[in-house]
Amino acid sequence: MRMVDIIEKKRDGQALTTQEIDYFIAGYTKGDIPDYQVSSLAMAIYFQDMNDDERAALTMAMVNSGDVIDLSNINGIKVDKHSTGGVGDTTTLVLAPLVAAVGVPVAKMSGRGLGHTGGTIDKLESVEGFHVEITEDKFVKLVNEAKVAVIGQTGNLTPADKKLYGLRDVTGTVNSIPLIASSIMSKKIAAGADAIVLDVKTGNGAFMKTLEDAEALAHAMVRIGNNVGRNTMAIISDMGQPLGNAIGNALEVKEAIETLQGNGPEDLTELVLTLGSQMVVVGGKAKDLAEARSMLEQAIQDGTALESFRTFLENQDGDGSVVEDVSKLPQAKYQIELPAQSSGYVTEIIANEVGVASMMLGAGRQTKEDDIDLSVGLVLHKKVGDKVNKGDALLTIHSNQVQIDNVKEKLLQSITISEHGDEPTLIHKIITE
Ligand code: URA
Ligand code: CA
Repeated sequence: MRMVDIIEKKRDGQALTTQEIDYFIAGYTKGDIPDYQVSSLAMAIYFQDMNDDERAALTMAMVNSGDVIDLSNINGIKVDKHSTGGVGDTTTLVLAPLVAAVGVPVAKMSGRGLGHTGGTIDKLESVEGFHVEITEDKFVKLVNEAKVAVIGQTGNLTPADKKLYGLRDVTGTVNSIPLIASSIMSKKIAAGADAIVLDVKTGNGAFMKTLEDAEALAHAMVRIGNNVGRNTMAIISDMGQPLGNAIGNALEVKEAIETLQGNGPEDLTELVLTLGSQMVVVGGKAKDLAEARSMLEQAIQDGTALESFRTFLENQDGDGSVVEDVSKLPQAKYQIELPAQSSGYVTEIIANEVGVASMMLGAGRQTKEDDIDLSVGLVLHKKVGDKVNKGDALLTIHSNQVQIDNVKEKLLQSITISEHGDEPTLIHKIITE
């Protein structure tokens, strides 16, 4: 087989065989096939697309390019959730204990990552004592007993994707549905998921800005999952404004606890119930979404969801009593309200810009070496569609510095108040096939 023949075949709009896809992914991973040939093929894929068989083959070739996590010692269908990213996205913190409470095993491998706030692990580390440095044996034991545990990233997962994503980034080939879909799905499958639920975000704070693009990506990923034997569903949700009210690390843990108690923000609660219902269905614990939803609502009402969170924290040496006393979480020195400059309706809260403001306070990291401040962040009091009077607090800034004029300015620029406002749509679509 020759790489140049594969490039020409795709350039001319023909479908590649599984053998050809395996050949180029294995050769590229090993370093036998150079970047310039793979970038040429990526550009051909960008213009000529891939059919369902090619997309499935590409996904599995990337899965098999490195380690695959073996969760076969965990009983039941292991469901993983993936979000294409957003600002103040507290869903994982709520979903993990919530679906575990109704019997769906959550074996979560998580990273720290860069961003406006820390990743899921950073957020959880705001709970005194909690850590993810547990052995694989202990991880398996905890998931079997308590249905939920989180472990730090281990193994060399999908090296082909790492290399290819890096190359796409500098060759104008990131924005290709078959390449994005296979990239995301390969990582979930390598991490051991039997079934997958996807939260594809759309809006100004998202990777996919338009609903049309988000829908195409969601369908592509659902089809790949189902074609490679992983039951997969997706939703398309809005990331025009931040999700929930809290953006920060400890602040989001507090928000998660409130949501598990049934007192969370409306949008976060709705998103969690929608995604959670899909997780319960693909996890085989309910026959349809309606039954799944009522199981989850019941777990919130009767306190088992909150108990599940407490047990999860305590199993990993965390202080579980935070679930009844959130003042045990790290708190910033100053709480500064930001008043509205005019009266009207909030019509826009630019998620990305608000995210940058929380980063300026120290909630996130720009480089891998940065420290993050778990106590700082923002709590929104007004969301898109809400009425405000001049002088009302739009949000509270939780800061360890007094001098935050630059943060205030950034926030005022990212929130628009107009005479008329509409309630935004949170969940645009539910995609089950
Ligand atoms: N996120 C990924 O993991 N891969 C892509 O290709 C794009 C976004
Ligand atoms: Ca939030």
